[in-house]
Amino acid sequence: MSTRSTISKKAAITEPDQSGGVGRKRMTVPAFMARKGAEPLVCLTSYTAHVARICDEVCDLLLVGDSLGMVIHGMPNTLGVTLEHMIMHGQAVVRGADKSLVVVDMPFGSFEESPETAFRNASRVIKETGCHAIKLEGGRDMAPTIRYLARRGIPVMAHIGLMPQAMNTAGGYKAVRDEAAFEAVISDAKAVEEAGAFSVVVEGVAAPLADAITHAVSIPTIGIGASANCDGQILVFEDMVGLMPRVPTFVKRYGTMEEMMCAAVAQYADEVRQRNFPGEEHTYKKK
Ligand code: KIV
Repeated sequence: MSTRSTISKKAAITEPDQSGGVGRKRMTVPAFMARKGAEPLVCLTSYTAHVARICDEVCDLLLVGDSLGMVIHGMPNTLGVTLEHMIMHGQAVVRGADKSLVVVDMPFGSFEESPETAFRNASRVIKETGCHAIKLEGGRDMAPTIRYLARRGIPVMAHIGLMPQAMNTAGGYKAVRDEAAFEAVISDAKAVEEAGAFSVVVEGVAAPLADAITHAVSIPTIGIGASANCDGQILVFEDMVGLMPRVPTFVKRYGTMEEMMCAAVAQYADEVRQRNFPGEEHTYKKK
């Protein structure tokens, strides 16, 4: 039984928000799947409630990505991220979003050992955060795990192509650009779809490969460094607003947040030193 068939196309409508927001509709897994080949899906990472509140206004999906290890915690890569990190940030993002589908990444070491281990950890993520789905890295190798989770009520977003958690075996972060490697990634895409993934992140692949994958599967492909030939796009929020000092070539910076923050902090420091802050208007008067 393919889990895709258990997610009714008829249910492909947004459901009333359960969190009480008036007139707001929550994106659902079936509604997300129904956008295959239609209006592009807008996805961003979020790790905190206030960023989630901002992104939730325009996004279809918020990903609590394990990239938070680097972006928030200053780690050198994602390998040190724990289930506890993901749960804590997942809780914050769920509190900040009442419209987008919220997906939490499974960190390295939390799902690879066996489908049973993956279920135990993924169900903890769902229970303790209130998120709607999980994401895990892996193609054909992870298909049995994806099938196990999807059949037990856990929607899975797969992640193929460049897989950051495999950086040690791959010898770094290597985009898939060599045509000889295309067939293996297409097989990964087909395997995760067949196993019941509701969508697949395609990271760091050449444009013709992204196009081939998007045509080979009937689930939405969400690209990052994978050209416009996908059903949607995802970026790391801090990369695209200009908060990270260095970003990969595939990132477009839509803002200059670091400069704005530096200017604000410098002005604050200056005003404190000059005794210009706090002013009268920021001071409690005696009753
Ligand atoms: O961890 C992450 O942020 C991700 C996205 C970049 C897809 O996996």
